[in-house]
Amino acid sequence: MDRKLKEQFENEERGAGGYEAAGLLAVGQFPAKPISLDEWKRMQLVYNAGLKEINTKLEILNSEFQMAHRYNPIEHIASRIKSPESIAKKLRHQGRALTIENIVRYINDVAGIRIICSFTSDIYEIAELIRKQSDVKVLKIKDYISNPKPNGYTSYHMIVSVPIFLSDMTIDTKVEIQIRTIAMDFWASLEHKMYYKFEGNAPENIRRELKECADLVGFLDRKMLAINEEIKKYSGEDEEEELISETLRSLYGRVNEENEVKEAAMQEPVRPIVIDLQETEIRSAEKSQKKKIFSMPKSRKVSQNNA
Ligand code: GTP
Ligand code: MG
Repeated sequence: MDRKLKEQFENEERGAGGYEAAGLLAVGQFPAKPISLDEWKRMQLVYNAGLKEINTKLEILNSEFQMAHRYNPIEHIASRIKSPESIAKKLRHQGRALTIENIVRYINDVAGIRIICSFTSDIYEIAELIRKQSDVKVLKIKDYISNPKPNGYTSYHMIVSVPIFLSDMTIDTKVEIQIRTIAMDFWASLEHKMYYKFEGNAPENIRRELKECADLVGFLDRKMLAINEEIKKYSGEDEEEELISETLRSLYGRVNEENEVKEAAMQEPVRPIVIDLQETEIRSAEKSQKKKIFSMPKSRKVSQNNA
C-alpha cells in the first residue's frame, strides 16, 4: 500500500494517537455506556477483516485485468480503520450515544478503502465488478462524478457489506469504498487541507479558484480518457485477450493434472509401521507437555509465595 496515501487517509480522519489510547479517551467521554477494551478490539478485528476481504477482491480483479488487458486499472489502494476518537466525535455530532449498536448502525465508514484509478471509465468498471460479487451487498451509492458536489468534489462512493465468518457467527460488515482518478485525488487532498485550514469557512476567492481547478480536473480526466481510447486502437487488444484465454486453458489443464497425481498419492495405503511410530511420538509428546503444564518453574513458585 502507498504509505503517503495511507497517512493522508488517516490524517483525514483526524484520529489522535494510537487506537487504544484514543479508545480509552472515547470511553472516558461517555461514562453512561462505556465500551470495554475487549469490545473495541473485537469490533476492530471484524472491520479489519472487512478491509482484508475487499482488498483481496480488488487485488484479484487487478491481476486479472493485468493479464487480460496488460494494464492495471488500479493505481493505488489505501485503507484505514476509523480511530475510536473519530467514531466518538461523529456519533456526538449525530447526537447519539457511543454504543457498539450505534457504531454498527450509523457509522458507515469505520472501515474505509480508497481506490485510485487511472481513468474515469476504470472507476465504473471497478464499481460494477465489486457490485457483481455474490457475497457483496451494495447498501448505498453516491456518484459524485455524474453529480459533483457544489465545491467541485468528484468521486464514486459505495457503502457495501461483506460477510465475515467468525467461529460462532457470521457478521455482515460495512465498508466504505471511495473510487476516484489520480487527478480527482490530487484535488480532494488539497481541498481537504484547505477545509481544515479554514475550518470549513474558506474565503470566497479560494473556494472559487478551487472550483476552477475541479473543472480543470474534469477536463483533464476527459482528455486523458479520450487519448487512452485512441491509443487502444493501435494496440490490438482483441488478439491479446485470445492469447490469454489460451494460456489460462493450458494452465487449468496442468493444475488438474497435478491434482490427479496428488490425489492418487493420497489414496495409496499408509504403512502401519508409520502409524505406530507416530502414535508413540504423540504419546511421549503428550507426557512431556503434561509435565510442562503441571510443574511450575522454581523461580515463579518463589515469587508467588512472596506476593
Ligand atoms: P461523512 O462525510 O464521512 O460523514 O459521510 P457522508 O454521509 O457525508 O458521506 P459522503 O459519501 O458524502 O462522504 C464520505 C467521505 O468522502 C468523506 O468522509 C470524505 O473522505 C470524502 N468527501 C466527501 N465530500 C468531500 C469534499 O467535499 N472534499 C473532500 N476532500 N472529501 C470529501
Ligand atoms: Mg468519512
